[in-house]
Amino acid sequence: MSADKSTSWSYTEGLPVEDDVLRRARERSHELGLFPVSHGVAAALSVLAASSKAQTVVEVGTGAGVSGVALLRGLGPRAVLTTIDPDVDHLKAAREAFIESGSAANRIRTISGRGQDVLPRLTDAAYDLVFIDADKPSFPEYVEQGIRLLKSGGLLIVNDALDKDRVSDPAIREASTVVLRRVGKAIRDNENLISAMLPTGDGLLLAVKR
Ligand SMILES: C[S@@+](CC[C@H](N)C(=O)[O-])C[C@H]1O[C@@H](n2cnc3c(N)ncnc32)[C@H](O)[C@@H]1O
Repeated sequence: MSADKSTSWSYTEGLPVEDDVLRRARERSHELGLFPVSHGVAAALSVLAASSKAQTVVEVGTGAGVSGVALLRGLGPRAVLTTIDPDVDHLKAAREAFIESGSAANRIRTISGRGQDVLPRLTDAAYDLVFIDADKPSFPEYVEQGIRLLKSGGLLIVNDALDKDRVSDPAIREASTVVLRRVGKAIRDNENLISAMLPTGDGLLLAVKR
């Protein structure tokens, strides 16, 4: 294996060809000062949503809808995406993207609120896929809630799990890095989960609930 993987990383991030719907959602994200999922992560989300045949999906951190559109593209026609964000401007931008994507309105439930408040109100073991891409300090709580929400065989996906390549360096003690290192370890150590870390984007941590 070559010592420097960055060329392959850039190459794979450049492979997905995104259409106007995703391009406009990215533009709105940047106008709002948001960092949407990378091209590679968006493509991976579509594949994971399709291969898992998920019918019920929860997303924490809607943003301007890039990841939501990517998930919807992989989901079947009767699947429902519940997406949570406390920022009304972000939700408004995301709704524009969802409409442009041509997804039926009854497939998308946008909830204005904090993940910490909304997730505990959702039903145990009722979801096939949970995607976390919100405020980093709350990731441990979202992972705990996500595991509770998943059915057996359900898929948990954590974005930014390598925290801009900082997680691998134990000398880095940034608050977000420490949290994500802890989240990664808790998931790896959880015997009820089968997990894998993909280096896509800023790290995509996948875990299936046994
Ligand atoms: C990185 S952006 C999400 C990007 C989005 N997943 C995408 O790819 O387009 C993070 C989002 O988390 C939201 N957020 C911040 N605090 C939150 C909280 N407590 N609960 C849920 N979402 C939160 C922000 O408003 C922001 O829209």
